Amino acid sequence: MARRKKIYEGKAKILYEGPEPGTIVQYFKDDATAFNAEKKDVIEGKGVLNNRLSEYFMVGLNGIGVPTHFIKRLNMREQLVRACEIIPLEIIVRNYAAGSLSKRLGIEEGTALPRPIVEYCYKDDKLGDPLVTEEHIGAFGWASQQDMDDIVALALRVNDYMSGLMYGVGIRLVDFKIEVGRVYDGDYQRLIVADEISPDSCRLWDIETGQKLDKDVFRHDLGSLADAYTEVARRLGVMPKQATHMAKPKLIN
Ligand SMILES: Nc1ncnc2c1ncn2[C@@H]1O[C@H](COP(=O)(O)OP(=O)(O)O)[C@@H](O)[C@H]1O
Ligand SMILES: [Mg+2]
Repeated sequence: MARRKKIYEGKAKILYEGPEPGTIVQYFKDDATAFNAEKKDVIEGKGVLNNRLSEYFMVGLNGIGVPTHFIKRLNMREQLVRACEIIPLEIIVRNYAAGSLSKRLGIEEGTALPRPIVEYCYKDDKLGDPLVTEEHIGAFGWASQQDMDDIVALALRVNDYMSGLMYGVGIRLVDFKIEVGRVYDGDYQRLIVADEISPDSCRLWDIETGQKLDKDVFRHDLGSLADAYTEVARRLGVMPKQATHMAKPKLIN
């Protein structure tokens, strides 16, 4: 069988050349990393869950007119996406204080923020994805002012969509990060949501109990990560029951 060409292997996904020019196959691995890959593990089933969840969120976003790279899911672990030039930024939207914002500014985790706050980190593993301002982004040419306006508009639309969706199933969207890429339609260029949207890239807390249902479960050893992600998928009605992360098949005599 002809082997596909691997374009890139990252911490959570592998990119392969797609079947047509301008397309990429995104393969979701079970690898989990945190703290800039200082903490690592393999979480059986995580890739399957994130593939399905990212599909679900991106299909929904496409449906309300927020452009994303998602084309179609190919199988349990792979999806076909539109290739784009990734803007080298992690775009973070925060609704409640948590993580690095709480640490940096001394605001207690869970404090409601006065309005959604958008932050940018420069995507560079060697530097540990440092926080940057629009000044840096403009001066170093990572994105233009027009791009930044579009990025903020995209990020806030994703925030409204995801917040509402999660609220409907009793989950608080505390914060999330997206990546945005540039695509060209003839001479015309525009920005689309790329990479993934999943419990790896969001903070999700149960509204009633405060239970964490996202990658913090792995970061801070709070229990089974696969169970947490399965719970998110179950509440959203995303995973058919038999396709959740489950024990290996048993022999039936
Ligand atoms: N549509 C796309 N076109 C090109 N690159 C993409 C697209 N979507 C995501 N990527 C890139 O693919 C990589 C996904 O793999 P991941 O394991 O998340 O990598 P990393 O360890 O760099 O975060 C990321 O570097 C991301 O920026
Ligand atoms: Mg990544």
